[in-house]
Amino acid sequence: MDIILLGPPGAGKGTQAHRLVEHHGMRQLSTGDMLRAAVKARTPVGIKAQAIMEKGELVSDDIVSELIDAELTAMGSATGAIFDGYPRTAAQAEMLDDILAKHGRKLDHVIELKVDEDALVERITGRFTCAECGEGYHDTFKLPAKEGVCDVCGATEFKRRPDDNEETVRHRMDVYRSETAPILPGYEKRGIVHRVDGMASIEDVTAALDDILV
Ligand code: AP5
Ligand code: MG
Repeated sequence: MDIILLGPPGAGKGTQAHRLVEHHGMRQLSTGDMLRAAVKARTPVGIKAQAIMEKGELVSDDIVSELIDAELTAMGSATGAIFDGYPRTAAQAEMLDDILAKHGRKLDHVIELKVDEDALVERITGRFTCAECGEGYHDTFKLPAKEGVCDVCGATEFKRRPDDNEETVRHRMDVYRSETAPILPGYEKRGIVHRVDGMASIEDVTAALDDILV
């Protein structure tokens, strides 16, 4: 089963994708994570993407679509994909259709996480992750059980994203509204869109997603 998790920055796409990987043995394909890895490794893609990401603008459609294509080539056809943060433009949505067809796959569900944008700013600016395993935390909503120690792997280093400041977050939301939200009607016509209340608790959102994926 292949699904898209759609929603503005901070909607919980990454959080839920991690949980679906555990519950359903699917694979998370986050273009944001792939680009951040490329920035860290100083690859040509990363060098090109870094300044764009720090401003909250979109990296080129070709670059992100090539990343997705390469991941699908590397993973087996039996494993379901969770597209997290991709597609983000009408052009990417078309490219994804072509890529999926090429790999003999098809999109089963597009799940929109419905959220209140003002609450998202607090969510994003409080977010941090384990530098070792990537487990996500939040200053207010989800602190590690033992201060300074990752619940999952025991590491003691954490990191914050350079684009997680209020100004950039607000710009990322504008970009979501103007570039990404307009791809939804196309999927609606196919009858594969589901809406989930992204303001519910993390557990309740996962339960709603589990119901869709059964
Ligand atoms: P990307 O990494 O995709 O960022 P984003 O879409 O802006 O979304 P976020 O990762 O910020 O939010 P999320 O929905 O994953 O929320 P999370 O689960 O972390 O993209 C970054 C940049 O890369 C882009 O700006 C662009 O430059 C570039 N890029 C990436 N893909 C691209 C593409 N396809 N095309 C072009 N450019 C691209 O949750 C947030 C916080 O809230 C966490 O702390 C979490 O613990 C907490 N939380 C989550 N759910 C709940 C809940 N239900 N209740 C309470 N707290 C919650
Ligand atoms: Mg994310």
